[in-house]
Parts: sequence; C-alpha cells; structure tokens
Amino acid sequence: MVQRETWATRTGFILAAVGSAVGLGNIWRFPFIAADGGGAAFLVVYLLFVAFIGFPAILVEFVVGRRTERNPVGALLELGGDVWKYVGGLFIVTGFVILSYYSVIAGWFIRYFLEGLRGSYVGRLAAYGEAGAMFGEVSTGLDALVLHTLFMAVTIGVVALGIRRGIEFATKAMVPSIVLLLVGLAVWASTLPNAGAGYEYYLSPDFGVILENWQELLPAAAGQAFFTLSLGMGVMITYASYLGEDRNLTRDAATIIGFDTGIAILTGLVVFPVITSAGIEPAAPGPNVIFISMTEAFANVTGGHLLGLVFFGTVVIAALSSAISLLEVVTAYVIDEKGVERWKAAIGMGGVVYLLGVPVTYDLVFLSLLDGFADGILLVFGALVLMLLVGWITPKFAVEELSKGIGDLGSIGQAWIWAIRVPIIIVLVVSLYLGVVEYVEFLTGDFTAWIEANL
Ligand code: PHE
Repeated sequence: MVQRETWATRTGFILAAVGSAVGLGNIWRFPFIAADGGGAAFLVVYLLFVAFIGFPAILVEFVVGRRTERNPVGALLELGGDVWKYVGGLFIVTGFVILSYYSVIAGWFIRYFLEGLRGSYVGRLAAYGEAGAMFGEVSTGLDALVLHTLFMAVTIGVVALGIRRGIEFATKAMVPSIVLLLVGLAVWASTLPNAGAGYEYYLSPDFGVILENWQELLPAAAGQAFFTLSLGMGVMITYASYLGEDRNLTRDAATIIGFDTGIAILTGLVVFPVITSAGIEPAAPGPNVIFISMTEAFANVTGGHLLGLVFFGTVVIAALSSAISLLEVVTAYVIDEKGVERWKAAIGMGGVVYLLGVPVTYDLVFLSLLDGFADGILLVFGALVLMLLVGWITPKFAVEELSKGIGDLGSIGQAWIWAIRVPIIIVLVVSLYLGVVEYVEFLTGDFTAWIEANL
C-alpha cells in the first residue's frame, strides 16, 4: 500500500477544515433558515446547539479520524465492527446528496457574479424586470445546468490533484479573504437607512417565541448546525485521518467553530440590514432570499456594482472549498476501500454526484427534496449514530485519543463522554424525530402536489 498522505503544514488541517465548514451553509442557507425561524429566536437556539452539541460532536469526528487514519467507512468498520460499515456507507450517500444540489446553488452564485461582469446590478435588474424575476430566470434551465457543470468540473479537478496540492493550496487563500470581505460588507451595511429594523429582527430574541416554536426551531437548528460545521457525514473524520501528528484537537475544534459561527453571524449582519433597508420583509423566507435582497441592495447603493462582484465572487470561492471536502469524503472511500486511483475515483464519483444534481436545475422542488432529506434526516442521523458508537461502545479509546496532544484530561474527558451518552443523544433523537415528521409532511404535501401538477 502506498504511504497515506498527510497535511503538508501545521495550519493545513485547520485551513482545510475551516474551508469545509465555511460555505453556502453560512451565506446562502443560514440567513433564510434564520429568517424563517424568526431571526433572533433561531439565532439563540442555533448558537446553543453549536456550543453544546456541535463542539462535542466535532471532537468525536476528530478522534475517530485521527485514531483510525481511515475514511469514514473504514474507520467505523475498524472501531465498531461489521455492522458499522453500513453507517459509514450512509455518510457516503449523504455526501452524494448534499454535493449534488450544493453545486447547483454554487452555480447560481457564479451566475450572479457573471451578471455583475456584464453590467451594473441596476442595469441587470432592469434587464430582467425585477429581482424576483431575475432569480426565477437564472435559477433553473440550461444556464443553471451549464454552471452546475462548470462548478462540478472544477471541484473534481481539485480533488483529483490530491490533498496537498489541491485542497491545502486552495483554502489558504480563501479563508482570510472571506473574513475580510464580510467584515467590510457588514460595516457598509450598518450605514444603510433602516438598518436598525434588520438588527432588531436578527438580534433581539423573544423567548416566548422560542418556547412556542421549539418543535420547528430544534430540528432547524440541528440541521443547520451540522450542515454548517460539516458534521454528520464524515468530512471531519476524513480530514482528521490525514493528521500525521498529535495536536490539541480541542483547540483546533474551537478555532474551526469560531470561524464558522463568526462568519454566519457576520453574514446575518450584512443580510438583515440590507433587506430591511431595501424595504423587504425580513421574515420572507426561501432559498432565493439572499439573491433577491442582495441584488436589490447592490442595485440601490453607490459602489454596489463592485461590492456585488466581490460578494458573489467570494461566495463562489467559499463554496468551492466546501464542495471539495464533500467530494473528498466520497473519493477517499473509493481510494482506500476499493484501491482505485485518486483521479479515477474523483472523476467517477463526481460524475454521479453531478447527475444527481441535474434535476435541481430543472425545478427547485428537487432542491427541497434533497436538502430536506440530507439536512433534516441524514446529517442528524449520522451524528447520532457516531455519538452512540463513541459514547457507548468505544468511549475508552475516544478519551485516550483526545488526550493525545493535550495531556491528562482529568474529569473533562468523562464529562465529554457523559454529555454525549445521555443529554446530547436525547436531543438528537428528538430533533431527528421532528425532522422526519417535517420531511414526511413535505413529501405528502408540497411534493405530491408538484408531482400531480407536473406528471
Ligand atoms: N459546511 C458546508 C457549508 O456550510 C457544507 C458541508 C456540509 C460541507 C457537510 C461538508 C459536509 O457550506
């Protein structure tokens, strides 16, 4: 067997993990899920979820990856035995599903960037009529398909080139630029008229609303937290499997979560004031909201043309580093377990993902179909079974592995295991149940209606 690759530099791992975490989840998904969940009400539940479940969960994936030095399927097989490889198999399926629609959405951002190159956003909006019509026209159809193709081709190319040359190099440049750009945009957004209404909706929580709506807020926060942190499908297992050294994983986890959460919060600080200042209702939810509100905004402020180009361009870069991690999981599995060459694995798996995404470019109902399934069910289920494995079946190895690079954990290791064993598992079971109920409602409601209307 060939020597397994490891990260070329100390920061390579952090950069790649942050690059995976930060993406469309922060910029496209977070604002509309937050808007849908009542803004600040969602923000509170989401932040609690990230701190008390996301943090322990990312450590679980890290120790599993570093210990086994395998892809998720091999890792679970090694730790849990035969049955567990099917759970690993589920991770691979999740990767397929998420990347398929992820690429289409990334294609939309490419499109909005290209529109900015063709002319100012004022001009482009005028050409399409208005922002909603513009989104309607560019989000599906042949153009969307072409950009989906382009995005997948680039993703496959980077993964085919391999860990060191591809991923590490790509993320090194991306992460700092994203942070800088968002800070700049947030400062600019704060100067807009009526920005206050946006901050109000986004930042001042009503705890009555939280208590009343917990059944929707909990699964939404669970799905969003795992999605944005790239948890529940083996990305962090895979990345930690390339760690050649024993480093302090808790510190790495805190860094990654800090960047990811900070960027999501920042995105909200751009989106919500921009929306209210453009006279758009902040609760108006939907996957088109970021595009509609942003084009409106970029069309209506001085310097909006340049800001728009910067914004859409940055998101494409952020999406790429996340997409790379999704394809990496699937590819690493085929390389490790089937002995296929890297470039062949990347092209083959990427090709299948690409095909799965094609229906989304035809009708957005397929976006709900895939996103609801992956986010509301697969990721939560994946995280849950990992917690069961580490919490109940192999806790000893986990504590031992976590202590490497830190020293004696004392009672913290036990606290971590017990948090996983009972409270976290209970919350995840409830979230999963609520997520399934919601998805079944979608399948029997909106989706059935769509099928009846279209077939
Ligand atoms: N975390 C990425 C984002 O926020 C998406 C992702 C999910 C990547 C799951 C890998 C695994 O955009």
